[in-house]
Amino acid sequence: MARTQMNTLNDLEAREWVKSTKSWFIVNPRSRTTEQMDHPAKYPEELVQRFISFFTKRGSWVLDPFAGVGSTLIACKELSRNAVGIELHGEFVESGLKMLLETKGSGEQHFLMGDARESMSIMAEQFGESSPAFDYLITSPPYWDMLRKSRGGNDSAQRARGRRGLKQYYSDSEKDLGNITSYYEYIEALGSLFSGLRPLLRNKAYLTIVVQNMRNVDGLLKPIAWDLARRVSDDYDLRQEMIWCQDNKKLGCWGYPTTYVSNVHHHYCLIFQKPA
Ligand SMILES: C[S@@+](CC[C@H](N)C(=O)[O-])C[C@H]1O[C@@H](n2cnc3c(N)ncnc32)[C@H](O)[C@@H]1O
Repeated sequence: MARTQMNTLNDLEAREWVKSTKSWFIVNPRSRTTEQMDHPAKYPEELVQRFISFFTKRGSWVLDPFAGVGSTLIACKELSRNAVGIELHGEFVESGLKMLLETKGSGEQHFLMGDARESMSIMAEQFGESSPAFDYLITSPPYWDMLRKSRGGNDSAQRARGRRGLKQYYSDSEKDLGNITSYYEYIEALGSLFSGLRPLLRNKAYLTIVVQNMRNVDGLLKPIAWDLARRVSDDYDLRQEMIWCQDNKKLGCWGYPTTYVSNVHHHYCLIFQKPA
């Protein structure tokens, strides 16, 4: 009798496994609640759930070093995974904790405030010698200083937030990676941060970094996703890129009728693996 091989990666059936490996997918973020609106760039829980279901099993440990308002932690609770999220800004942690409390599910989720570059000491302070070994990391860092730059004239979503009195960027803190002035310093800061997280991850653990190439208002592209993929490959094996498409964003009429300026409605989900 043929022996069926055990699924050591996730809890999915074969059919769901195969469906999840398509290299692009559409997730349209739902309209946000008041607490979620506090944050200028959260990712949808459905997006994180998709990856967590593929790269972990029930009871696994997940790390998000740029936790924002806790979408990863909320998805983990709903899917009975344990998680640690680190976020620089106390107000995002506060809103996130409130939403986490209202979420149904199970597992341990720890929402910690601090600079992700100090993750090792933050973890030691929280867990002492019994720090969990993470099975998976999923995160979305600041897309450099994208939120500080107007990219769409009067009509941009960020400007609309401004008109409603909502935060248009994360903070003025110099620890905020979105406030680094030089592009190459920003890529290096992120690269060395992910490098420093290696000891917290199990061998062969997967990582997913959600990021976007950045189009300036003049239409020029800063290829954050590609430069980051290159830099993070110094420490982890790059396994794949997946394209997350948003199909419900308003089209902006940016360059018409003289210049090509694109509407960017996709993000890269870069998949790495820690070598054994
Ligand atoms: C793209 S957002 C993440 C949003 C998150 N995925 C969510 O859905 O809520 C990036 C986050 O990184 C945070 N951040 C910036 N610099 C940081 C640092 N040095 N350490 C930890 N968090 C930082 C920002 O405050 C922001 O909330």
